[in-house]
Amino acid sequence: MPDKVFIFDTTLRDGEQSPGCSMNLPEKIEMARQLDRLGVDILEAGFPIASHGDFEAVKAIAAEIRRPMIAALARANELDINRAWEALREAARPRIHTFLATSDIHLQYKLHKTREEILKMISWAVGHAKSRCQDVEFSPEDAGRTDRGYLVECCQAAVEAGATVLNLPDTVGFCLESDYEQMFRDVQTRVRGMDRVALSTHTHDDLGMAVANTLAGLRGGARQVECTINGIGERAGNAALEEVAMILRVRRDALPLYTDIRSEEIYASSLLLTRLTGMNVQRNKAIVGRNAFAHEAGIHQDGVIKNAITYEIITPQTVGMPSNSIVLGKHSGRHALAKRYEDLGYQLTKPELERAYALFTQLADRKKNIYDEDLLAIVNEDFQHIPELYALKLFQSVSSNDGRSTATLELEKDGATFHDSATSEGPCDAAFRAIDRITGMPGTISDFSVHTVGPGTDGVAEVRIRARFDGREFAGKCTSHSVVEAAARSYLQAANKAAYDSKRTGEAVSVGRVSVHKSETVDRLFPGGY
Ligand code: KIV
Ligand code: ZN
Repeated sequence: MPDKVFIFDTTLRDGEQSPGCSMNLPEKIEMARQLDRLGVDILEAGFPIASHGDFEAVKAIAAEIRRPMIAALARANELDINRAWEALREAARPRIHTFLATSDIHLQYKLHKTREEILKMISWAVGHAKSRCQDVEFSPEDAGRTDRGYLVECCQAAVEAGATVLNLPDTVGFCLESDYEQMFRDVQTRVRGMDRVALSTHTHDDLGMAVANTLAGLRGGARQVECTINGIGERAGNAALEEVAMILRVRRDALPLYTDIRSEEIYASSLLLTRLTGMNVQRNKAIVGRNAFAHEAGIHQDGVIKNAITYEIITPQTVGMPSNSIVLGKHSGRHALAKRYEDLGYQLTKPELERAYALFTQLADRKKNIYDEDLLAIVNEDFQHIPELYALKLFQSVSSNDGRSTATLELEKDGATFHDSATSEGPCDAAFRAIDRITGMPGTISDFSVHTVGPGTDGVAEVRIRARFDGREFAGKCTSHSVVEAAARSYLQAANKAAYDSKRTGEAVSVGRVSVHKSETVDRLFPGGY
């Protein structure tokens, strides 16, 4: 009988805290709903002490999402644990996840504490969490580089204080598979009372080993896996949920394990995260990349036509990727459109379908074939969660080859119209500055990328922007036949999010957020100004 592997999703915590992946409250709730549909067992909703926004998100998710367990992260101190519990209170099945670094490197340089002090802190913190919540997970941070004998002592202290899950993180993505597997075997055999405690993997991808190490942890006895959609997470990311889930499904012959992940929801989850964060997955990304099921070489195509099994170990349908056998065009009706959206993971309401259909027909007048990417662009742009404080009414851009560009914009807010113009080196920057002048919120671009949507020369430009307003970063994404207009609209979207956010909340303590700097993409694409 195969054993169940519990999927602990940390997209909204380890994933969300990485640069370029932040989400606001409605976005986190939408992602949490999708993770529920996907069938994750435990959903780590955030790190409540980190900010007011994180606290609110955990609280709202705990109140709404009832099937999976909801976890919240806390450092091993009273303030963090109390705050995590306050956010989790309403959860049907809450879990406090507390952590403390245990490697000598962290003890010496980060915490300035002795091993004895850390042992006491673990006992106290797990005990305190347990006094609030039945289900307590403890993570010895940097377990992968912790002296093995001391790691066993730390885990023993956590188990004796009531931990129900021991998560052994390879925090810096340093372990080889053999090290990681052995660590689980050692903890399993050397810590007393493990019959009441589940072991969990948590791996980072700094050396490209996150998924391989997750499997090693499972071979060593872990039955919970911490992972994220699209593998987002600190630095190089965490183990990708979709890869772990599909390996366990496709290679059950070699690993007698299973998960309760509904694989047909994988693609929709990946797309949704991309839409919410603006963080694209690489084309050749396993399972969810655009090329993951594309057979280009003639010999491969020939084989797949004869029998897909020749070159396909998973069908696109298994992960919910729609097959493009029917191409939509100007003669397609609402029913076909609704069906294609359903295949892409969107259940549109009637008014949403009407809106999408209107935009679809406009596009179909200009473009012969409409591809999935076009349809996604329509919903992504038009079904934003943030109320459009400023709406773009008119846009004009003039640029010359002497490095001077001017943009004129008309924005509407609460029924009133505002005009302004700005001049800069590049046409996009001129548009951004004109927007700044109207909104009174100057922003700086931290990332800017342009793609064409759909194949062919009639493809539209998709611009993704990340912009910082008052120290906080927001994403925007828009498509248009004009790159400059798409850029202006994307920037305005980010500015609207910033305005909404500053209206909604004043941020509290910020813990460990990494600041994002102007990316290479900006410099490479627009050396003289964009
Ligand atoms: O990587 C890590 O060590 C973590 C812990 C907080 C579990 O994310
Ligand atoms: Zn981590």
